Amino acid sequence: EKAQIGVTGLAVMGRNLARNFARHGHTVALHNRSYGRTKDLVEQFGDEGKFIPSETAEQFVASLERPRRVVIMVKAGGPTDAVIDEFAPLLEKGDMLIDAGNAHYLDTRRREAALKEIGIHFVGMGVSGGEEGALHGPSIMPGGPKESYDALGPLLEDISAKAEGEPCCVHVGPDGAGHFVKMVHNGIEYADMQLIAEAYDLLRQVGGHSPAEIAEIFKGWNEGRLGSYLIEITAEVLKQVDAATGKPFVDIVLDQAEQKGTGRWTVQAALDLGVPVSGIAESVFARALSGGADVRKAAADAGLPGPSAGSGEHAGDLRADVEQALFASKIVAYAQGFQQIQAASKEYGWDIDPGAMAKIWRAGCIIRAKFLDFIKQAYDKQPELATLLVDDYFLDAVSGAQQAWRRVVATAASQGIPTPGFTSALAYYDGLRAKRLPAALIQGQRDFFGAHTYHRIDKPGSFHTLWATDDRKEVDA
Ligand code: 6PG
Repeated sequence: EKAQIGVTGLAVMGRNLARNFARHGHTVALHNRSYGRTKDLVEQFGDEGKFIPSETAEQFVASLERPRRVVIMVKAGGPTDAVIDEFAPLLEKGDMLIDAGNAHYLDTRRREAALKEIGIHFVGMGVSGGEEGALHGPSIMPGGPKESYDALGPLLEDISAKAEGEPCCVHVGPDGAGHFVKMVHNGIEYADMQLIAEAYDLLRQVGGHSPAEIAEIFKGWNEGRLGSYLIEITAEVLKQVDAATGKPFVDIVLDQAEQKGTGRWTVQAALDLGVPVSGIAESVFARALSGGADVRKAAADAGLPGPSAGSGEHAGDLRADVEQALFASKIVAYAQGFQQIQAASKEYGWDIDPGAMAKIWRAGCIIRAKFLDFIKQAYDKQPELATLLVDDYFLDAVSGAQQAWRRVVATAASQGIPTPGFTSALAYYDGLRAKRLPAALIQGQRDFFGAHTYHRIDKPGSFHTLWATDDRKEVDA
């Protein structure tokens, strides 16, 4: 008997994906650079399903039915290229190499183009949900050629998470589309996490609540419209007590957030596409600021002046207002992320259905939330929606939230509590609603120093003012 699917790279993510396939009745070929991991998997979990372990790449390839489906689950970057170089010569036309790592979508585009030359289908596949998700049902975002999805999709849908009975897996679009969407998922994940952290900080510093009390607040919020995996685990982290010191866990962890890079990639890509993903950008920068120990120390030593946190009152119901600010800022972050997906889809001709992305993020992935139902509905109603903010549900939500949102941002500013997520989201919102933006002045400055020209509101064409002359006459440019 041959295997329906193979997994190479059997560290925890690869191992769990392999077990998930086997648990769903598929025969799974196994391969790892060192055989020890392969052996361990079969020894520990062999009774979960049918596995065909191989010591060599050749044996592994020979153990697969055709067209072969080879899932690569190794570190993104060089290691992925090394595995592709090892396997590509062993495969035949129509076989599939499926990269399930967090690859950069430009690497995926390059790899797909190269493998196409020799008739191998390369599928860059986003997988979200961490170790648990990989084992029990992740959200899966496969890109690559459409025809490869016909042979691969059913297996992936089988092992994916289910939301209201429907698989959290869909063909995202050709070439790098899957990895692009996974990257934006992670960017949104960063924004969600930053906003939650700001909410916690305000409840603690302004409200004077303990981490355990805030855990209860988050638990309550999890029952409402904010209900999501990240809110749920926030409550768990906040109620955790450090065994060694008896202090709240959040008070003994070094306050320097790390990152592996997908959030940064999201922002880099957004800059190239010209999409203002300010919420995601602020969350990446907030992590960088927190990690800048030397700069923070210099600032502390110099005693940068300002109010001490929590030195004043909040002009309203803090808990209710923070919930509103969090929800409104979250809407902005998602609106920006979805706009980025739409922009990339257009740029690369991927034809991504944004509603389908919201649909497959409803379960399995890190940003899973009730909220995504509304995003799906918004795009179902209007596939060409310019921004989520103008959809009825979200418009209504921000209308209801905006006064509270402003109070929260005002409190944070007046008490010196950094809330880059809440504040930038509000600035973005006000930027969108402004009748006139000061961008007109910027155009004037550009024309003044560089003759960069401008457009007029009252007639078509490009114009330049002769700023250096006495009469500063306007001429056609
Ligand atoms: C997921 C996660 C996963 C990983 C992040 C962590 O969707 O399952 O996003 O991909 O945990 O990459 O990212 P940072 O280390 O950059 O916070």
